Amino acid sequence: MTSEWWRTAAIYQIYPRSFADANGDGMGDLAGITQRLGDLAELGIDAIWLSPFYTSPQKDAGYDVADYCDVDPLFGSLTDFDAMVSEAHARGIRVIVDLVPNHSSDQHVWFQQALAAAPGSAERGRYLFRDGRGADGELAPNNWESVFGGPAWTRITEPDGTPGQWYLHLFDSSQPDFDWTNEEVREEFRRILRFWLDRGVDGFRVDVAHGMIKADGLPDWTPPAEGGSMGGAAGLEEAVVDPAVAQAPYWAQDGVHEIYRDWRALLDTYPGERILAAEAWVDPLPRVAKWVRPDEMHQAFNFAYLETPWQAGALRRVIDDSIDAFAAVGAPSTWVLSNHDVVRHATRLALTEPNPQGHGVGPRTPGLGDPATGLRRARAATALMLALPGSAYLYQGEELGLPEVIELPDDARQDPTWFRTNGERYGRDGCRVPLPWASAAQSYGFGDTDAAWLPQPASWASFAREAQQGVEGSTLSLYQALLAGRRAHGLADGSLEWLDGGADGADVLTFRNGDVTVIANTGATPVALPAGEVLVTSGPLDVASAEMPGDTTVWLRTA
Ligand code: GLC
Repeated sequence: MTSEWWRTAAIYQIYPRSFADANGDGMGDLAGITQRLGDLAELGIDAIWLSPFYTSPQKDAGYDVADYCDVDPLFGSLTDFDAMVSEAHARGIRVIVDLVPNHSSDQHVWFQQALAAAPGSAERGRYLFRDGRGADGELAPNNWESVFGGPAWTRITEPDGTPGQWYLHLFDSSQPDFDWTNEEVREEFRRILRFWLDRGVDGFRVDVAHGMIKADGLPDWTPPAEGGSMGGAAGLEEAVVDPAVAQAPYWAQDGVHEIYRDWRALLDTYPGERILAAEAWVDPLPRVAKWVRPDEMHQAFNFAYLETPWQAGALRRVIDDSIDAFAAVGAPSTWVLSNHDVVRHATRLALTEPNPQGHGVGPRTPGLGDPATGLRRARAATALMLALPGSAYLYQGEELGLPEVIELPDDARQDPTWFRTNGERYGRDGCRVPLPWASAAQSYGFGDTDAAWLPQPASWASFAREAQQGVEGSTLSLYQALLAGRRAHGLADGSLEWLDGGADGADVLTFRNGDVTVIANTGATPVALPAGEVLVTSGPLDVASAEMPGDTTVWLRTA
């Protein structure tokens, strides 16, 4: 039977380091996830996506993989993984894992072999080693910069002790890029896909799915100053496509699509609708849609939506553009507001200054805005998102209304971005702080000790899951109501009809999806609440005056 479950799925991202810590060492683990699956079932999600838990020196929180087919002891074992998958499946929750094909860790056996081998060898040929420029090869092969700041090349010392070749790393120097023109690399990743498919996973979220192929000759390239670091435009203004971004010789090269066709064919040999979801920071949307043509991936993250400000006109445009662009290739749109790489939307939506993706926020960031406004907008934005047709991604902790942690001490920060820019960019640690489960417990119940790999703020007691469970008006109760309503009214499978608003300068958006009318007031001024039974509201309503305040979204049942 084909249900095409992924077209409508609500997929919850677990960042394993920070979700739940079963052994009390301060680092979340697979056993912790298994213990908490009941809470996720209760939340009402369809699938979980796990960020990497593979063997890794953890230079980029596990996105630096040393062994793609094993579990890092920090997170448990393959046995723990199997137990987690079977428990999830028993609860009707599908499991998606992260696949990191653009680069490995420098501790991967292949990279260690490459360092020990000679220039021009088959071992070096699995990565992108090049001779340097300049009289003695002392200059990097080209001018590319790492997404995390600093040069994208590192020079090695040859086995004989002389200064040697350079290798490419679009991210940290501990993350050498594979050469995807090499068939051996392709075959190895087919093996990795099969390894996890055979273990029962329901799909893969493909990391940096726009970066694996580089333009021939690796030509010099200077990115535009205002571009987002991963390739998409970013900021408070509506995303504007910079034609220059579209030309980066390492993003969105046509050659990547052949790889995904190959993987799709492989996945299709497995029963049970296993899926591929692309992390492709590419714009505009019709370009992203190339990743989800019928014989490629199933889904692509909609970062254009994530980057849209809380403003009715901009939202209406991005919603229309998303639905149109994905429908043109027969794919569902996806929707997402937060993940482990961006400032949590409860903080981001109140920022008053542009903040490029990946830069993060900290105590010295200007324009942080008011946290209460941020939370109100985040709740309203989620209520809008979960009424849209398509598949939605949620990031752990947003169901608690967690803000970005701004006051992390400098010496606690771990994101390579922080180190590679000498603290100029804070990076992404603020959205990765371990979750609060219980107000009064040590580490807020993240584990049963006070250990947490990033310090949790003193102010988090009120955000704890236990403090919100069953409490009317809590963010957790709101998410439960939204997810249940989305399912009961078939919204993810529905279609959208605009009723009003969204004109330039307007603050209110109104649309219908099936028997639900959704009104989002993105402005500050209260507006009249139309007649109808209130199914869900993201914030308090003044029923007596029949008004909805600003920064609020309401679902009404209409005849
Ligand atoms: C992706 C991941 C991010 C990681 C980067 C390098 O963007 O989401 O966390 O740092 O790839 O693997």
